Amino acid sequence: MTEEVWTAVDRYFEGLFAPPDAALEEALAATAAAGMPAIQVSPLLGKLLQLLAMTVQARTILELGTLGGYSSIWLARALSPGGRLITLEADLRHAEVAQANLARAGLADRVEVCVGPALETLPTLAAEEARFDLVFIDADKEQLAAYFRWARSLTRRGGLIIVDNVVRRGEVTNADSVDPRVQGVRAFHAAMAGDPGVTATALQTTGIKGYDGIAIALVTGEPLPPPEGKTAASRPGGNVVTGVGG
Ligand SMILES: C[S@@+](CC[C@H](N)C(=O)[O-])C[C@H]1O[C@@H](n2cnc3c(N)ncnc32)[C@H](O)[C@@H]1O
Repeated sequence: MTEEVWTAVDRYFEGLFAPPDAALEEALAATAAAGMPAIQVSPLLGKLLQLLAMTVQARTILELGTLGGYSSIWLARALSPGGRLITLEADLRHAEVAQANLARAGLADRVEVCVGPALETLPTLAAEEARFDLVFIDADKEQLAAYFRWARSLTRRGGLIIVDNVVRRGEVTNADSVDPRVQGVRAFHAAMAGDPGVTATALQTTGIKGYDGIAIALVTGEPLPPPEGKTAASRPGGNVVTGVGG
């Protein structure tokens, strides 16, 4: 089996299940035009995210890692009426491009792009006692275990936590890897596997993005308290590129 075959099958499935869509295509074009990397989810993974969000009838979604807002568009379209999505992005330029893409997709009224390193913005969500039906983690992999821990304190019982890029082209099995991203993913898998408050699994994926994988956890226990000493009174001023209702 080659990448050529995986790509052909992905294109076939895309034609059936994720056909061309103006807002998504424009978001990809604008992201590329801004010189940003094409590291967004594949169309079929976007569709899977949307489907999973619909499965839990998500009214509140949290995303870590916005890039140009491609996965945000997939997820925001799954929101129940009156729902909202908060997406965290460290890079101001990425956040601005995402904001424009989300506005073009007609979703600016329900998506908030929050700028800053996720480990700084997550505590503010905890301070607001935010609760999410679905958390999608797709930011830097080094901090994955910490992000999972935060997701566990912010996701309601019955909600989903979804994590992308958890196979690292198979390097995830290499306990001696010197790549901090691989060690970050391994620490995350250990944390998720050892958490009695979730029912979880991880899957290998192939397709137009090559060989990688995703992890999915259904939260079966109560949310954990926020990591100790890590709440913030309010969101740091000026970190919101766009907000629901301003
Ligand atoms: C893989 S891309 C996200 C792709 C996006 N979810 C999609 O599929 O369209 C990862 C993003 O995470 C952002 N990022 C990296 N480190 C971060 C951090 N510490 N906090 C928040 N965002 C971060 C990067 O700037 C980048 O835009």
